[in-house]
Amino acid sequence: MTDTNGANDFIHVFEPGTDPARPPLLLLHGTGGDERDLLSLGRTVAPGASLLSPRGKVLEGAAPRFFRRLAEGVFDEADLRRRTDELADFVLKARERYGLPAPIALGFSNGANIAAALLLQRPEILAGAALLRAMKPFARAPRADLAGKPVLLLSGALDPIIPAANAEELAGQLTAGGAVVEHRVLPAGHGLGQADLALLGDWLARI
Ligand code: MLT
Repeated sequence: MTDTNGANDFIHVFEPGTDPARPPLLLLHGTGGDERDLLSLGRTVAPGASLLSPRGKVLEGAAPRFFRRLAEGVFDEADLRRRTDELADFVLKARERYGLPAPIALGFSNGANIAAALLLQRPEILAGAALLRAMKPFARAPRADLAGKPVLLLSGALDPIIPAANAEELAGQLTAGGAVVEHRVLPAGHGLGQADLALLGDWLARI
C-alpha cells in the first residue's frame, strides 16, 4: 500500500507482516531512490516482517534524499537534525497507526546515514539498525544511550565515497553509546552485492 498522506505526510509504503516474531523493518533508500527501492531486499532478508518504507523529502535535482548535503559526504547538519526529528516523529505515528513495535532500520547509503543519525539523536526510535555503506552523520555525535541495541555496519573496502576511517569512527561512536556493533568490511565498492545480502540475512535471523 502506498500512502501519500497521514502519518506525518511522508509518502510511504507499508506492507503488513505475516510473522509476528520478526521485528518490523524501517527501509531507508539511498540518494535517488524511493519508497519501493528496498522492498524486495526487505522481503528477501526478513521474510514475513512488516515493512515500513518512507520516501526522503529532500530533492537534490530530481533525486529524493533524507537530508540536504553541501557536497558529496559533506552534510548540512542543521537540516540533518531537523530531518532526523521529522523522520523519528513519522515512525512514532506510523507505529501507532499500524500497531507496530519499534523497528529495525535497514538503510543504504543516504538512508543508512539518516538511520545512524536516528540512533545518535533519537535512540528510542529504533530497536536496532543495519547500516549499509554508512558514514558518520554528525561531525560531533550527540551522546546517545544505545545500551544493547544491535547494529550491523557493512562497509566496502573500495568505496569511493566513504573513507575507511570514517566508517570506523561511526562504529566507535555507536559502540561508545553501548550498541552491540558488528562492523564488517567487504571487498566491495559503494554498491551492494551477494555478500551483503548473506550477512544481512544472517544478522537479522540472529538478533
Ligand atoms: C550522503 O549524502 O548521504 C552520502 O554521501 C551518500 C550518498 O547519498 O551518496
